Amino acid sequence: MRLYVNIDHVATLREARKTDEPDPVRAAVMAELGGAEGITVHLREDRRHIQDRDVRILMETVRTGVNLEIAAEDEVVAITTELRPFQVTLVPERREEITTEGGLSLSTPDSRTRVRSATRRLQDAGIRVSLFVDPDEATLRHSADVGAEAVELHTGEYANARGEGRARELTRLQAAAVLGGEIGLAVHAGHGLTYENVIPLAALPEIEEVNIGHSIMARAILVGMERAVREMRDLLREAPLRVREPGGWVPPLGW
Ligand code: PXP
Repeated sequence: MRLYVNIDHVATLREARKTDEPDPVRAAVMAELGGAEGITVHLREDRRHIQDRDVRILMETVRTGVNLEIAAEDEVVAITTELRPFQVTLVPERREEITTEGGLSLSTPDSRTRVRSATRRLQDAGIRVSLFVDPDEATLRHSADVGAEAVELHTGEYANARGEGRARELTRLQAAAVLGGEIGLAVHAGHGLTYENVIPLAALPEIEEVNIGHSIMARAILVGMERAVREMRDLLREAPLRVREPGGWVPPLGW
């Protein structure tokens, strides 16, 4: 099973101050050093976190593969066909949502035409296309019909459920994963996965890729906290000495 690490939250933190740190591009390098098999970012229509600049530089620096999440909208599809990431995951997008809610709707002929057309344009540019969908039979069959190579099963309901509800959601995901394989779709999964709830899901042989963001970013902040604070403490303690010593402190480049 491939692990794709979603680094959108790094950009969210940067955009909170409109500064240049933390840089998602550096985070991607670190994630790859940690063993990520791919890097996922969502170029949202409102550019609330990841910016075009990030995707452009990620395309030049990521050594594994970039999975770009976008809506099936002309503007971002056009940009994406220029950038040519390894893979695109088409997702539904609403400006007011906190994060992606629910899978793509393929229930109407209009929605299928829109997704089919975006899928074709992306594939013509040499990009593999995955659709973020709820784990239900009709949507999976529509996903194959519109020509996608893969589906990412929405695991949000599974993540939110507890007890028997969660067991039911797991069975639903498993059935969807088996069906996906039978109708020729590669099966991915993502949303709300954590260090705890990913375990039974990762044991399903039909799922070949997971996309995980929030839980890994949350842990990264905590496991890095102690070191970050200690480094600032050490700096404060040494500062008077370093400034007073001749040659002890030189302004860095770009000061
Ligand atoms: N997959 C898709 C399609 C998403 O939109 C997201 C959230 O951006 C994820 C996976 C990752 O979800 P989480 O941040 O909850 O791990």
